[in-house]
Amino acid sequence: MNAPNHDILIVGGGGAGLRAAIAAVQADESISVGLVSKVYPMRSHTVSAEGGSAGVIRDDKEDSLDLHAFDTIKGSDFLADQDVVEAFVKEAAEELIQLEHWGCPWSRDPDGRISVRAFGGMSVERTLYAADKTGFHMLHALFQTSLQFDRIHRYDEWYVTKLLLNDEGAAAGVAAINVRSGAIHAIPAKAVIVCTGGGGRIFPFTTNAAIKTGDGMSMAYQAGCPLKDMEFVQYHPTGLPGTGILMTEASRGEGGYLINNKGDRYLSEYLPGKMELGPRDMVSRAFVHEEKAGRVFDGPYGTYVHLDLRHLGEKKIDERIPFVRELTKNYVGIDPVYEPVPVRPVVHYMMGGIHTDINAATPIPGLYAAGETACATINGANRLGSNSLSELLVFGKRAGEHAVQTARETKMPSYSSLEHMAVDEEERIEKQLFKNEGTERIADIRTDLQTTMDAGAGIYREEESLKATCEEIPRLKERYARVKVDDSSSVFNTELTAALELGSLLDVAEAVAHSALLRKESRGSHSRDDFEERDDENFLKHSLAYRDADGGDPRIDYLDVVITRWQPEERKY
Ligand code: FUM
Repeated sequence: MNAPNHDILIVGGGGAGLRAAIAAVQADESISVGLVSKVYPMRSHTVSAEGGSAGVIRDDKEDSLDLHAFDTIKGSDFLADQDVVEAFVKEAAEELIQLEHWGCPWSRDPDGRISVRAFGGMSVERTLYAADKTGFHMLHALFQTSLQFDRIHRYDEWYVTKLLLNDEGAAAGVAAINVRSGAIHAIPAKAVIVCTGGGGRIFPFTTNAAIKTGDGMSMAYQAGCPLKDMEFVQYHPTGLPGTGILMTEASRGEGGYLINNKGDRYLSEYLPGKMELGPRDMVSRAFVHEEKAGRVFDGPYGTYVHLDLRHLGEKKIDERIPFVRELTKNYVGIDPVYEPVPVRPVVHYMMGGIHTDINAATPIPGLYAAGETACATINGANRLGSNSLSELLVFGKRAGEHAVQTARETKMPSYSSLEHMAVDEEERIEKQLFKNEGTERIADIRTDLQTTMDAGAGIYREEESLKATCEEIPRLKERYARVKVDDSSSVFNTELTAALELGSLLDVAEAVAHSALLRKESRGSHSRDDFEERDDENFLKHSLAYRDADGGDPRIDYLDVVITRWQPEERKY
């Protein structure tokens, strides 16, 4: 093929990537965008988002931008940058209306207004939804809109292996494998936007699709960009035991109960003011306390509590949360109209990610990031459910528009200046994964990584087990160097992709574990048994994990949190 190049290259074809692409081509009619995705865009993980997207759009709900901002900041346990949150809540509302204009079929009240529902940690109903298939419909609206622009050139099923930098250390393109042919190419660009989602697959039990392996975080980290606030990993309180399939928070927003084995709505003991609509970190921890007290059920896939929706009735379940009924019928043989659903906390989202500023820019010139892969930071130590779909719109747009400004000021890197880097990548992969004499298996290392992350960096953490996890990861990296890919075919070599993804998982896991070890306090989702209190004096700071180029432990640095109008206070619900 001819050497391609684009003004802006976007890695990741989910919600953030598509929003960034549309923003870029709308901002400048001469801009060309390359959209590289390891899966077809409609298979990106955005498609599986269920419950909704938050924004202040209803004037009859006693809501305001300030209230949305305060809920988000309190939810974050005061680790969110408040200037970024203020911009976010304003633009979130605008973006949700924009999506309406692009054809997103928001659910409606009988009077025709867009419906909003309650979500955890939000003071009022402000979550827009399309039944409980919100991500699916948002992604469709974005994808269809992107098809209007022939200046968005898609590279579906291309796997990016490396971010390419020029001699000045600025982003200059990527090296990527065309998975259909196996050929590796350099794609030059004046600016690169990473929108590859999170890396929940570092844990064994997660709502995250198998594709969520932290590739973009790893790519930026390998290029010298720090990963911010990586210790903050969100457990969603309600996943199906065994599979981890999400039972949307909308089930509780619509009135569902969580019930222990005594038949009690046990959250009355932990979150009497919010009950099932408490923030996710606190509701997930309540499960652990119930488990310790022996008030949970035991099943073939571990312990669980009941999500009881029966009192909502068939009509409401079918209208508001039909996907919950579909999923429970298909995956656990339970009809929630008649029976309670078994649920337990499950890894769902990473608050941390590539260090970005209010404009989605990273410290690497010409490199931007948006969506779950980035840490902007609006989520701090705990994200409120339904803020992330809005986040990918707001910061996807900002990334696209700011990348256009960079592209206007930047000369296109020549293909010849990057070609040798793609050749180096080809040789590295060949040597490391095909010509190696090792006998290590990808699945074994991945399982061992997930086991050690679960043991050290779960809902509750403490020094000893976190240290053990930090010590285990370098051993897993050594084993990774002895992985042999047996499948030598070039066409759709999924074993090769899995091997490359395992490298990303190891990078992400190391940043999570080391950042968690050094944060000696409890804040939001980061709960330490040995440091039970929040410590604003020492830790009202973002962590920044820098990769060690010699293969040692990452260096952890800190950055002050931006406080504008809301002083940190005790977080009570
Ligand atoms: O439960 C849910 O529907 C998840 C929403 C979110 O993570 O924002």
